Amino acid sequence: MNPYDIYILAIESSCDDTAAAVIHNGHILSNVVASQEVHRQFGGVVPELASRAHQQHIVPVVHQALHRANIDKNQLSAIAFTQGPGLLGSLLVGMSFAKSLALSLEIPLLAVNHMQGHILAHFIKEEGKNPPQFPFLALTISGGHTQIVKVTDYFEMEVIGKTIDDAVGEAFDKSAKILGLPYPGGPLIDKYAQKGNPKRFKFPKPKVNPLDFSFSGLKTSILYFIEKETAENPDFIQDNIHDICAGIQFTIVSYLMDKLKNAVKQTGIKEIAIGGGVSANSGIRKALKEAETKYGWKTHIPKFEYCTDNAAMIAIAGELKFRKGDFASQNVVAVARTDF
Ligand code: KG4
Ligand code: ZN
Repeated sequence: MNPYDIYILAIESSCDDTAAAVIHNGHILSNVVASQEVHRQFGGVVPELASRAHQQHIVPVVHQALHRANIDKNQLSAIAFTQGPGLLGSLLVGMSFAKSLALSLEIPLLAVNHMQGHILAHFIKEEGKNPPQFPFLALTISGGHTQIVKVTDYFEMEVIGKTIDDAVGEAFDKSAKILGLPYPGGPLIDKYAQKGNPKRFKFPKPKVNPLDFSFSGLKTSILYFIEKETAENPDFIQDNIHDICAGIQFTIVSYLMDKLKNAVKQTGIKEIAIGGGVSANSGIRKALKEAETKYGWKTHIPKFEYCTDNAAMIAIAGELKFRKGDFASQNVVAVARTDF
């Protein structure tokens, strides 16, 4: 086998998705995700249930990833896994599985930071797609994280802004819960917002440091607004769902864009890449595209399946680590909280 011909199996289990993917020289051969429906009835992820579900899913998910990639496990060059950040019990399932498989196949182990994975997903090779040029700014927005990261090389990243309370996905989900929408409510707010008037109901944007985010105040102001309006008209939500969702989405998207503008001003970098589940939002996608003509930015939005939690992003990060010779030992431990 050509020494540069690399096959890596990657495992991601940091939150409530059990995922496995196979990459070959930058190209994704398979990308399998098993989501956990069990949390829906609780309106959020229950850590103990998440680790149990990972245990049930991991063997079939890995099996399917190898099968879809049409390769045998003996062809693998290394195993990559998510080391953190995430829920410790969930991380342990993926890490233990990766360690055992690497040990039995006598191949190296690659420990990947989940947040770096979200950013490095932009380097998965795809037809007609150019990766971001260094240096660039990455906006990672999901149910678990909200960060602006200055990326100067594959593994040279600096968090220059982050949320001081809730993540942006949580802001969407908690606002949706106030409106009586099921979890996760972000995609539903997006759906209703598309037919609504974003200017009819206005919500305040929290004031924090220019590059940081805060979303807990927004949730409170939506709660008070809804309580006041439904006291007068019990059908207020039902009658105005499109305009309420459009107002919430407009506030969140323009807040994210304000922060990006501040980051561009401070760093002089106009190349922007986004990632995380909230990058599926139609409002942020549109705002970023508009910013290309309005402010001369170059923006990068990954394929949806590489935005939400997935193992393809862990696979590309693993491959880049493999090429650097940055391997992990069998003594490596999972970490729940970590920057880079
Ligand atoms: O990256 P992800 O799948 O999981 C993590 O949280 O790590 O992100 C899930 C988050 C949820 O909060 C969900 O409501 C939000 O992404 N989301 C959206 C949209 N699609 C997913 N939020 C707003 N608009 C969307 N279209
Ligand atoms: Zn994530």
